[in-house]
Amino acid sequence: MTAWRGVLVLGLMVGMGVAAQAPVTLKDAYKADFPVGVAINTAQITGQDARGDATIAAQFDSISPENVLKWEVIHPQPGKYDFTLADQYVAFGVEHHMWTVGHNLVWHSQVPGWVFRDDQGNLLTRDALLERMHDHIRTVVGRYKGRIQSWDVVNEALNEDGTLRTSLWEKIIGDDYIAKAFEYAHEADPQAELTYNDYNLENAAKRDGAVALVKKLRAEGVPITCVGIQDHDSLTWPTAQQEGDAIDAFAALGVKVSISELDVDVLPSVFGQQTSDVGAHAASNPKLNPYPNGLPDAVQQQLAQKYAELFRVFVAHKASISRVTLWGLTDGDSWKNDWPVRGRTDYPLLFGRDGEPKAAFGAVVGVVR
Ligand code: XIL
Repeated sequence: MTAWRGVLVLGLMVGMGVAAQAPVTLKDAYKADFPVGVAINTAQITGQDARGDATIAAQFDSISPENVLKWEVIHPQPGKYDFTLADQYVAFGVEHHMWTVGHNLVWHSQVPGWVFRDDQGNLLTRDALLERMHDHIRTVVGRYKGRIQSWDVVNEALNEDGTLRTSLWEKIIGDDYIAKAFEYAHEADPQAELTYNDYNLENAAKRDGAVALVKKLRAEGVPITCVGIQDHDSLTWPTAQQEGDAIDAFAALGVKVSISELDVDVLPSVFGQQTSDVGAHAASNPKLNPYPNGLPDAVQQQLAQKYAELFRVFVAHKASISRVTLWGLTDGDSWKNDWPVRGRTDYPLLFGRDGEPKAAFGAVVGVVR
């Protein structure tokens, strides 16, 4: 028995006054509520991170692909698909009977430049780009039909004020690129959960923009069934009230909500406002990296409390929630170490760099045990 399991078992024995208990896992703790997922990386998908894989299989009943289903990986050149890693990702989900998520089909980021241009380098026409999008969605969704249960169909289409982002998708096709993407995905797998996914949906202006978008799509009969709230959070944002209000606003439209990319940043904020725009970058500076050698206990406790607060909100809204997914397994795996500043040491997840559960893990389990 590993040290952390021992601690948990001992904690239970002391707390409940009973003899030895099986170790508590996230998926068992939340069995009655929602699947608990984790985004997995290439080392985990290919079996190079054997310890990580064992933890993933033991603790989680849903997976998301951190990068391997993004356009640039799976469809790097015109007419050339590369399913090597994606096939292994999906096989992992099948093997472990997990709610397996596809992330993502249509996004302005991690998509090659050729997608939007013809052989001469000119921007495509609306019809040509729609055909390209159709081919991509038909091929990728069709390949994993019945094995990927839920797709992030459109990712991050909104600005902070709730208006539509002017990506090349929007510029070339027009605002209905979103409706088309959902129609193509539904055509390729009529059973799949189809999600609109974005960050900062807890902020009122962006939330209201997303509510208007989803309402319009539903009124037009577009097959959207879920909204993904990414939840790239900090110790102070969002508040429980903001989180609950966002979930309520989407649930009222008749769609499910997935908490799709949860992490809690403990480092100083870099920009004036909360953002998770992968295109945003800032220069490194020691002031922005205060804990290179370990997280002080007081901050560890704040992190645990923030996680408990969020999971209390999720449980209170469990009827509307399709899954809660952590964006990475261990702190060492997290994208936050290199975004928006390279080379920082962040502590945003439930497992530490040593693979052991942190205080935040105990706090999350403690919400329901
Ligand atoms: C991130 C990955 O975690 C990184 O490895 C990659 O370099 C950039 O993308 N919103 C999303 C995710 O929808 O796909 C992003 O993932 C994080 C923000």
